[in-house]
Amino acid sequence: MCGIIGIASNKSVTSNIIQSLKKLEYRGYDSAGIATITKGEIDENKCTGRVDNLEKILFKNPSSGVLGIGHVRWATHGVPNQVNAHPHSSEEVSVVHNGIIENSSELKKDLEKKGYRFKSQTDTEVITFLLTDFLKNFDLINTINKTLEKLHGSFALGIIFKKYNNIVVGARRGSPLAVGYGHEENYLGSDSYALKSMTNKITYLDDGDICVLTNNKVEFYNSTNIKINKEVLTLSDDKHIAEKGDYKDFMSKEIYEQNITAKTCIKEYIDQLRGDINLYNFPIKPQEIEKIILIGCGTAYHACLTSKYWFEELTTIPIEIDVASEFRYRKLQFNKKNLYVFVSQSGETADTFAALDLCKKNNVITCSIINVVESSIARTSDFVLPIHAGPEIGVASTKAFIGQMLVLYILSLKISEARKEISKLDYIKKITELKTLPDLIKKTLECEDKIQVIAKDFLEAKGTIFLGRGSSFPIALEGALKLKELSYLHAEGYPAGEMKHGPLALIEEGLPVVVLAPKDKYFEKTISNMQEVIARGGKVFLITNESKNIISENIRFTLEISKTDDYLTPFLMTIPLQLLAYHVASLKNLDIDKPRNLAKSVTVE
Ligand code: M6R
Repeated sequence: MCGIIGIASNKSVTSNIIQSLKKLEYRGYDSAGIATITKGEIDENKCTGRVDNLEKILFKNPSSGVLGIGHVRWATHGVPNQVNAHPHSSEEVSVVHNGIIENSSELKKDLEKKGYRFKSQTDTEVITFLLTDFLKNFDLINTINKTLEKLHGSFALGIIFKKYNNIVVGARRGSPLAVGYGHEENYLGSDSYALKSMTNKITYLDDGDICVLTNNKVEFYNSTNIKINKEVLTLSDDKHIAEKGDYKDFMSKEIYEQNITAKTCIKEYIDQLRGDINLYNFPIKPQEIEKIILIGCGTAYHACLTSKYWFEELTTIPIEIDVASEFRYRKLQFNKKNLYVFVSQSGETADTFAALDLCKKNNVITCSIINVVESSIARTSDFVLPIHAGPEIGVASTKAFIGQMLVLYILSLKISEARKEISKLDYIKKITELKTLPDLIKKTLECEDKIQVIAKDFLEAKGTIFLGRGSSFPIALEGALKLKELSYLHAEGYPAGEMKHGPLALIEEGLPVVVLAPKDKYFEKTISNMQEVIARGGKVFLITNESKNIISENIRFTLEISKTDDYLTPFLMTIPLQLLAYHVASLKNLDIDKPRNLAKSVTVE
């Protein structure tokens, strides 16, 4: 979603704000803007499109302000144009916002009655005018808290004032915000990634917190205007991991890092000496778990779905999977003997966070599987299992998916072992096989040349279908998600056995269908479903680890991947599908790292 930056300094801040906005561009890229206090006045510059456009404007029209706020927008209310771009300013106040103000229509009516004239279609402008109005009668902190009390919904805010011309203010409810500490300057940012080039000392705001930054001081207040102390964290130094290097885009870098992701994750969780899985201080005794509920969105949800097959095969625990946006509104029977697992790369996804919050309010045991360990979801859950993938910048999730599945697989194995539901011998065997995964991933990546050829067949297609059974079904869903989000091509994933119940009607001459058929217990059945597709003219791309026994001259292309343990096959099946989505989008000349309409961190509902 939107990205926020704020800097209070004693030297011009424009260039640093622009550089930080470039880092935040993975969050929002419809439009961008900046406001500084220059010569005692609010100086606002905005543009549609990317931060580069803003940089050009500021090059022609430099701003010398020593404090300011910046924003990259992912439109919610109002089309992405210059007027709707943030900041939204009055004579007195300038505001950048990430989130949604749900009662903005009512607030707007009240403010219009008071004579305020709105320029934009955004929900954010009400904040500007509420602050302007309260400022007439209240001091700074009261003005902010009185404004926040009026707002329903979620927000992270960056604010500057003409009257208080040496401060930048931040406030948070439901959307992430961090403060960074520098030398004679202090920073506000949507995430630590944007601040990392300037500082490694960070404080994360909690809901209800307000921060007031000058160039040499940071103060925090709560919603009752009381000054509070907050913890300062030192971030690990992984700056280099978040650079593109020689890769054309972050997505290709992240695809090619997946063997490293797997290696690091395995190293973190498998004790090399004992050959056992490290899982200390787990918040519930595995023997006592009555049910596991796994919750996530998008790709993270697909990781949960894949793990259902492992948990069910390896344990006797009932498993329930839900997308967070559904889970959070269900009428649920919470149980203290259940384990509620939240999977999220960013750890800031609003729906997943709300689902976690619901569980916390019902006092049940929560565990999160997270990439960003400083995130809201990680900080709120009872127990955190990091995936150790390093920063993932491409909007399309790739290495995080591998990391999420890996941690879920490791968790299912450990729970099974602790409950004595897997034999010691099988447990050791599975761990030994797991250690081969990084090399298997590396080998699978070698299929890129073939995929580049296959991708051409998808260019003119009006749609496509991905099929799989068992744990290949969620991978089919993930393949379809990747293709649609990157190439804007209609793609659906189905359980192969479900085709005859409706989707088979979609098959016509030349329609590309990707069939995932590893040699597992579903193999013969999937192959039969594939034949049904071929018989109706579908152009089949088969991905298997057992091509020699498949007889069909009418398969358009067969891609063979390595044979391994059935539990590890979903990891390998994923790779060609990521590459397929990448190359179709690439042939169409689309923006790989920033597909249209999407954001990396979905912090609105
Ligand atoms: O940060 P999260 O893992 O919570 O994000 C969840 C989804 O928004 C995310 O996986 C999304 O579906 C990706 N763009 C898919 O590539």
